Amino acid sequence: MDSNTITISIILSLIILFNLSIAQQEPVIPPLAPALFVIGDSSVDSGTNNFLGTFARSDRLPYGRDFDTHQPTGRFSNGRIPVDYLALRLGLPFVPSYLGQAGNVKDMIHGVNYASAGAGIIAISGSELNLYNLNVRKMVVMGLAPIGCAPRYMWEYGTENGDCVEPINDMSIEFNFLMRYIVEKLAEELPDANIIFCDVYEGSMDILNNHNHYGFNVTSEACCGFGKYRGWLMCLSPEMACSNASNYIWWDQFHPTDTVNGILADNIWNGEHTKMCYPMHLQDMVNQKAK
Ligand SMILES: *[C@@H]1O[C@H](CO)[C@@H](O)[C@H](O)[C@H]1NC(C)=O
Ligand SMILES: *[C@@H]1O[C@H](CO)[C@@H](O)[C@H](O)[C@H]1NC(C)=O
Repeated sequence: MDSNTITISIILSLIILFNLSIAQQEPVIPPLAPALFVIGDSSVDSGTNNFLGTFARSDRLPYGRDFDTHQPTGRFSNGRIPVDYLALRLGLPFVPSYLGQAGNVKDMIHGVNYASAGAGIIAISGSELNLYNLNVRKMVVMGLAPIGCAPRYMWEYGTENGDCVEPINDMSIEFNFLMRYIVEKLAEELPDANIIFCDVYEGSMDILNNHNHYGFNVTSEACCGFGKYRGWLMCLSPEMACSNASNYIWWDQFHPTDTVNGILADNIWNGEHTKMCYPMHLQDMVNQKAK
């Protein structure tokens, strides 16, 4: 495991509300933020996809089969990713993928998802600074998920009975602890900005531990894949997928299902199921007057 990769991945997983002052068409209900920018790895769901390598293809079925369009969109999920749910909360359209869009300015105004599988690492330290210079003043920094519970690592480490790989999870915990501290320091240094840290580890562990409460009865096996926990081979074809992912926590060897993503997004928004954002949730940050 390359811990440098993880470091970069977390720092990349930012959700950014962009204070654009470009004149735009007024929607019927004004959005709560002018735009939502996403910097991160391909899913911006759990910080796990920098482990994916370059063969992962989310632009073909069964990816996207439960999405609004029932088509693959490049999202690493059967349906929506957390950012989609947050865009709806903000009254914004789904954030278009940077790679998927043709540079349409109207798309850009509402934000762009700069994610792409394994390619999120490009010169990010520079980008972060640029965002501040571009008047980005509200940011969500996402921590690492319990990666040790991903089917891929449970397969790789040969765990029994769906036990998570504890040393990997411990690393996530340590990292999130550090990240939360860094975000606090950054908030002090940038007094005119709002930066929150959302510990997706906490929210994910709540779902794993209380899976029955949430209606999940398949907790360690992915819906799509092959081998033990369906964690050996990546999800490559519709035939490798379960018939209905709604009882599953994991969609593929690394990524959660649409249902899990919705729960995590609720937590980021207002801590609906688990308080996991510090010092406040996204809804409170959005409602706060600009400093
Ligand atoms: C999970 O629940 C579904 C629907 O209630 C059921 O069809 C399925 O067999 C259950 N799976 C397991 C592994 O218990
Ligand atoms: C999957 O199962 C759930 C209930 O267990 C049901 O509400 C949903 O419609 C099913 N989805 C599909 C695509 O069959």
